[in-house]
Amino acid sequence: MTQSTSPSSPWNDAWKERQRLRRAPDDAAFWDERSKTFATKDAPSLYVDRFLELAAVRPGESVFDMGCGTGALALPLAAAGHPVTAADFSAGMLGVMDDLAAERGVTGIKALQMSWEADWAAHGVGPRSHDVCVASRSIATSDLEDSLLKLTAVARRRVGITLTADASPRVDSRALRAAELPHQPGEDFQFAFNILVDHGLRPEVAYISSERDATYATPQAARDDYEAMVRSALSSDSSPAEEEAALAHLRTWLDDQLIPNEHAGQPDRKGVPEGAWRLREPRVTTWAFLAWNV
Ligand SMILES: C[S@@+](CC[C@H](N)C(=O)[O-])C[C@H]1O[C@@H](n2cnc3c(N)ncnc32)[C@H](O)[C@@H]1O
Repeated sequence: MTQSTSPSSPWNDAWKERQRLRRAPDDAAFWDERSKTFATKDAPSLYVDRFLELAAVRPGESVFDMGCGTGALALPLAAAGHPVTAADFSAGMLGVMDDLAAERGVTGIKALQMSWEADWAAHGVGPRSHDVCVASRSIATSDLEDSLLKLTAVARRRVGITLTADASPRVDSRALRAAELPHQPGEDFQFAFNILVDHGLRPEVAYISSERDATYATPQAARDDYEAMVRSALSSDSSPAEEEAALAHLRTWLDDQLIPNEHAGQPDRKGVPEGAWRLREPRVTTWAFLAWNV
């Protein structure tokens, strides 16, 4: 049971305002498009293994997986015999999860097209209806406190989530450093920790690193990708000269990083043929894993 927010909490005003402004929510159309290439083929995922280890779901417990995507967690949990309710607002993501479940002969997943913002009880996901709730890399909402409390209310025993501890999983922080642009680690998990403590909960925190080994057909394709990343990180009042300087630093770094890919043409983890170029080292995203018992 959560307690109401303490009026004396040091982060009540300034931090709450910052977390409200932290990001625009995603939309389902964006994720429908991404569902076409999102699922990882059968390759094992260190991220998923570590998440499940930390979530510590007990044998036979029921699980509510919010923002399930293509079923990275829902599929192995159901395969291990857990009754799973897997919800996402993207029909495309849910469709891929259904196909994968059928391919692998996995049963026991109840898929729900539902958003973080919806009235969950109206969709049959009522208070204390599942033993464990999980939300992996999926709290892309504008009201983090509301999302955390909704998830907590549905759990009978435990909640486990991940939030980025980097600037964004969509950005390579090495490139921003090379371009001499300011960047700061993600604050979401710090906001979440404070919100939970404010509500009388005692979250555990761990970190999970996940590697992303993007490949490119040509060096120019890599430049286009990274230049777009740097442009979107530039502040709106940057001058053309500042933009050109940042891009020049980026190109110097990228030219040194790009090397021929020895696995070109072979299927990657998603089953797509690898491109002819890659960076020397894969991009690493760090996720903060938070869990709390209710
Ligand atoms: C990065 S994916 C993570 C998927 C999966 N949990 C995993 O770890 O692989 C984020 C997922 O959150 C879903 N999502 C984002 N905003 C949402 C919202 N407001 N309501 C419901 N789902 C949302 C997206 O459709 C997408 O499937």
